[in-house]
Amino acid sequence: MAERPIVKYGNPVLREISEDVAEVDQEVKSLVSDMADTLKKAQGLGLSAVQIGVLKRIFIVDLSAVDIAESLRVFINPEIVETGGQVEMEEGCLSFPGLYQKIVRPEKIKIRATDLDGKQFEMEIGGLAARAILHEYDHLEGKLFIERLSPMARTLIRGRLKRLAKAS
Ligand code: NI
Repeated sequence: MAERPIVKYGNPVLREISEDVAEVDQEVKSLVSDMADTLKKAQGLGLSAVQIGVLKRIFIVDLSAVDIAESLRVFINPEIVETGGQVEMEEGCLSFPGLYQKIVRPEKIKIRATDLDGKQFEMEIGGLAARAILHEYDHLEGKLFIERLSPMARTLIRGRLKRLAKAS
């Protein structure tokens, strides 16, 4: 078990674009294992490598807390191939403790990625999993969920964001 500290809003690394993973080697596997430990401890649904300060295109999603059929999913060098529909859902982020906001995103997606065995896979998925994947994908692009709020909604949480950044 190697839990790592989660980078919080206010830390400029969250705005950086993550880099492709050249090879799924032992270092990557050990990083993913630390990410899984960190996500479990934080009781979150998803975590990207940048959230523990590593600028690699990796994220994990674990919906087992809300759906017993789910387990940990690992996405390395992911690409969103297609999106469809649009839905508003409440979202949170481990880098923004206590902040939940309604965000509009595509309803379903097709994603291509590499798994922990170094094999490429493709899947079509909707619902909460699509939501979590799209949120985590944004992290790899240095994009935060608050940037998807309307200017009005963002103005309303300006004070809370300031306090979060101060505490980070
Ligand atoms: Ni997040």
